[in-house]
Amino acid sequence: MADVDLESEQYEKNREAGEILAEVRDEAAEMVEVGVAHLEVAEWAEERIRELGGEPAFPVNISVDHEAAHATPAPDDEETFGEEMINLDIGVHVDGWLADTAVTVDLSGNNELAAASAEALDAAIETVEAGVDTSEIGAAVEEVIEGYGYKPVVNLTGHGLGHWEQHTEPNIPNRAISQGTTLEAGQVVAIEPFATTGTGKVHEGSDEQIFALERQRSVRNRQARQALDQITEEFKTLPFAARWLDVPRVEMTLRRLKQQDVVHGYPVLQEQEGELVSQKEHTVIVTEDGCEVTTRSR
Ligand code: CO
Repeated sequence: MADVDLESEQYEKNREAGEILAEVRDEAAEMVEVGVAHLEVAEWAEERIRELGGEPAFPVNISVDHEAAHATPAPDDEETFGEEMINLDIGVHVDGWLADTAVTVDLSGNNELAAASAEALDAAIETVEAGVDTSEIGAAVEEVIEGYGYKPVVNLTGHGLGHWEQHTEPNIPNRAISQGTTLEAGQVVAIEPFATTGTGKVHEGSDEQIFALERQRSVRNRQARQALDQITEEFKTLPFAARWLDVPRVEMTLRRLKQQDVVHGYPVLQEQEGELVSQKEHTVIVTEDGCEVTTRSR
């Protein structure tokens, strides 16, 4: 990718998405306190993103304690925060150009675990420049987290961000691997170390509130058709929450769309019950001699 123009419109939109996102992440993190409802924080953040001129790139993820990813409030959710470890993972797009960020708010008294993923992210970002092997980034993450006496979650990775695509190549591992890939100037990538007291491998739980379009096909049921119209118009292939659909009987409609392979779900990914997971994530644009962090606090 020689001579990428980092001043082009696409990168300006990546930056705009990052700027909106940094503000919303920091404000949302401030709202997380014992007794506050998950749904209140998620809906506030998603609305604030729109007010600032972006669109949510995926539903606000609120992962608690052993949960690592893909948890978002259900339409009628009444859960509130307790003395827990909370990970907020939020995405914004501007015309399909994305930014992705996450932060841990620790209400559980395990600051060290939150510090481990935060410091791992700083170390990872230090290594990024055109020509770096992704294995080197993973090694930096692993070294910091193990230095704290925890494990990185190895089956979750950072990722490239494409146009209307939230997960593209390259994967950014959270440990040293034997076969990495080389980063190039102009790539937009999300780096997201997870640190855990558990095994370092997450598995699928039973809860599922996030979905995405799998393939277009005609559906006969009226609600299903209505939902599919909304999905293709508003979300395209980006993930959406059950609570975002303006159709009656949302759960039944989603079940129907899943059965017909029109949408797929993202089950919550979690460690063993009783363990904790922290996460920190930034989006960066790779440059010749480093990177530009689009989601840094202003
Ligand atoms: Co991400």
